[in-house]
Amino acid sequence: MGLRDDVAKVLIPEETLQARVAELGRAINGMYDDADRPLLVCVLKGAFMFLADLTRHLEMRHEVDFMEVSSYGAGTESSGVVRILLDLEQNIKGRHVLIVEDIIDAGYTLDYVTRNLRTRRPTSLRICSLLSKPSRREIDVPVDLVGFEVPDEFVVGYGLDYAEEYRNLPFIGVLKEEVYQAAE
Ligand code: PRP
Repeated sequence: MGLRDDVAKVLIPEETLQARVAELGRAINGMYDDADRPLLVCVLKGAFMFLADLTRHLEMRHEVDFMEVSSYGAGTESSGVVRILLDLEQNIKGRHVLIVEDIIDAGYTLDYVTRNLRTRRPTSLRICSLLSKPSRREIDVPVDLVGFEVPDEFVVGYGLDYAEEYRNLPFIGVLKEEVYQAAE
């Protein structure tokens, strides 16, 4: 009932998602050690669930911090306008920073975030994005780790929303067209 009825199909089931998150965690374990004490920067709100699961697979000492940016309104298309709604608490100068993002679509958000964070002079800056929609890319952003490449469909769940809902679904699903067409 409810939210699940609005999902046309499950694109990435929960088990597949969790197995890949564990793999990404292992890859990150190979990138840093305790002395690096990396700072994971979670890009809110979409990446909150991914970060929470990902950090449980990390073995090195690390910290987490949060940044909220928004490039979308209530609709389904990126506007290209990125705003910082919440900035980091930590000073990242001289730190190893790993940006944790839920999806790279046109690329505006990660392009903006990386350019912004680079001005703060971290020792290293890497990106881990759970999803990527390569067919939609308008700006090239080098992403170090990608969980899954997804087709150009409106995906929700596991942190990703439509009009702030569906984030709690434990899988990645495709929203029925009628759900967002009704609102447009
Ligand atoms: C979504 C997503 C990425 C961004 C990707 O965020 O979480 O941050 O869009 O799009 P882009 O590559 O085209 O810039 P959104 O602005 O919807 O905010 P949210 O994470 O709070 O849902």
